[in-house]
Amino acid sequence: MDSFSTLIRTASHEQHTEAETTTFMSDLLGGRLGVEAYARYTEQLWFVYEALESAAPGLAGDPVAGPFVQPELMRLTALERDLAHLRGEGWRSTLTALPATEAYAARVAECARTWPGGYVAHHYTRYLGDLSGGQIIRDRAERTWGFARKGDGVRFYVFEDIANPAAFKRGYRELLDRVRADDLEKQRIIAECKRAFALNTSVFRALGEEFPLSA
Ligand code: HEM
Repeated sequence: MDSFSTLIRTASHEQHTEAETTTFMSDLLGGRLGVEAYARYTEQLWFVYEALESAAPGLAGDPVAGPFVQPELMRLTALERDLAHLRGEGWRSTLTALPATEAYAARVAECARTWPGGYVAHHYTRYLGDLSGGQIIRDRAERTWGFARKGDGVRFYVFEDIANPAAFKRGYRELLDRVRADDLEKQRIIAECKRAFALNTSVFRALGEEFPLSA
């Protein structure tokens, strides 16, 4: 039987393609959107990472979720620096979540509170994605809007404390393969991962409505 890390990757493959090819993401990667759209997207990420990372200390000792809580992954400080750059020092006063983002962050918070396995699903979906496709988004953002390479505006995508992302991802997959969960619980985690992808896609769709390309 395939390892859990393989199962979760394979099971979410279709949703990955769906998220990647939403109009908003294609337009972003195609360099067709203004920096305001990128700022609005970054702002949405703040709510998701706030939910993920405010719960992290409380889960650090949990047998299922605890091994995944690693300080080098934490993104909130980097996001806040990016937002200060994108929106100015007063960024907090204008920060608003789209309804789709609220729903996403609420689901993360609910899992963090009640179901460590579900938290792992959300953790995987975000952080392994940021370490992978996130680098493509960073490169594109630097080119499109002229941010300094790995500097303010794209710090969210820069994992300063992870020298070798490929090795880190291998280690992360080993953590998945050792997760303290029986087969039924693993199936539930995979289902939650699909839900996490769907929540991301909803945010992209909402952003796409807010930033339509005037044809
Ligand atoms: C345009 C946007 C995206 C691009 C270009 C992209 C691209 C990639 C690439 C190239 C990989 C590496 C696959 C590998 O290491 O074998 C990857 C992995 C991954 N991506 Fe994305 N991605 C995007 C959006 C997303 C989104 C929105 C999510 C979910 C929030 C996501 C979640 C993941 C995850 C969880 C993995 C790790 C799969 C695994 O190895 O288990 N990606 N992505």
